[in-house]
Amino acid sequence: MEKREMMYEGKAKKVYSTDDPAYCIVSYKDDATAFNGEKKGTIVGKGVVNNRMSNFMFKLLEEKGVPTDYVEELNDRDTVLKRVQIVPLEVIIRNKAAGSFSKRFGVPEGTVLKCPTLEFCLKDDALGDPMINNSQIIAIGAATQEELDAISAYAYKVNEVMIEFFDKCNVDLIDFKIEFGRLPDGTIILADEISPDTCRFWDKDTGEKLDKDRFRRDMGGVEEAYAEMMKRVGLN
Ligand code: TMP
Repeated sequence: MEKREMMYEGKAKKVYSTDDPAYCIVSYKDDATAFNGEKKGTIVGKGVVNNRMSNFMFKLLEEKGVPTDYVEELNDRDTVLKRVQIVPLEVIIRNKAAGSFSKRFGVPEGTVLKCPTLEFCLKDDALGDPMINNSQIIAIGAATQEELDAISAYAYKVNEVMIEFFDKCNVDLIDFKIEFGRLPDGTIILADEISPDTCRFWDKDTGEKLDKDRFRRDMGGVEEAYAEMMKRVGLN
């Protein structure tokens, strides 16, 4: 399958049409942004890491019963995906407190949560992706109750699979953000990506951050952290 027209350019990826309307091709860039695009930069090699790691995780999740939009990796940066309509929600699961959760609720980073938390943000850059609850989601028509039930169940399943997998890589899965899409028949499937851009990964022994927080917080060693995660996952 080949790229035709660019349909959409996001902050980290470009999406192209193909000859078959049921499929598209995503191309991962090295561009990095944070704080709703306020901070901009480049993480050399990030596109390759995110493409390959995300495809690896989506294949694993498919095996474990989570349907995804993954079809075929074309090369280091490009992947064929099922074309979906993205549900306009960022679905966030947390195992330990960090980031906006720590800030909002005054819980120190690294605190083990008594249960994994599930939260939703409305995907809307102009509004700064505000947090939104289940009834608000249904009220504005961002998703139906049935869709939210499917999304929530899949999100917890993704967490279970990922905790177990990353544990074997000596990585603590602190939290992550995923997105879902609708196939033309309305089926909900996992979409977007799973990568160091969208997860917090801490080394289990040292607590060292191996994710995009190094970029967000100007910690240095950003490329090295992405490369280390590739190695941990076994993709070198
Ligand atoms: P947060 O603590 O800033 O809300 O982030 C929670 C998780 O979601 C973290 O793993 C980073 C990820 N994330 C994204 O993937 N995209 C975003 O735009 C934001 C704000 C967070």
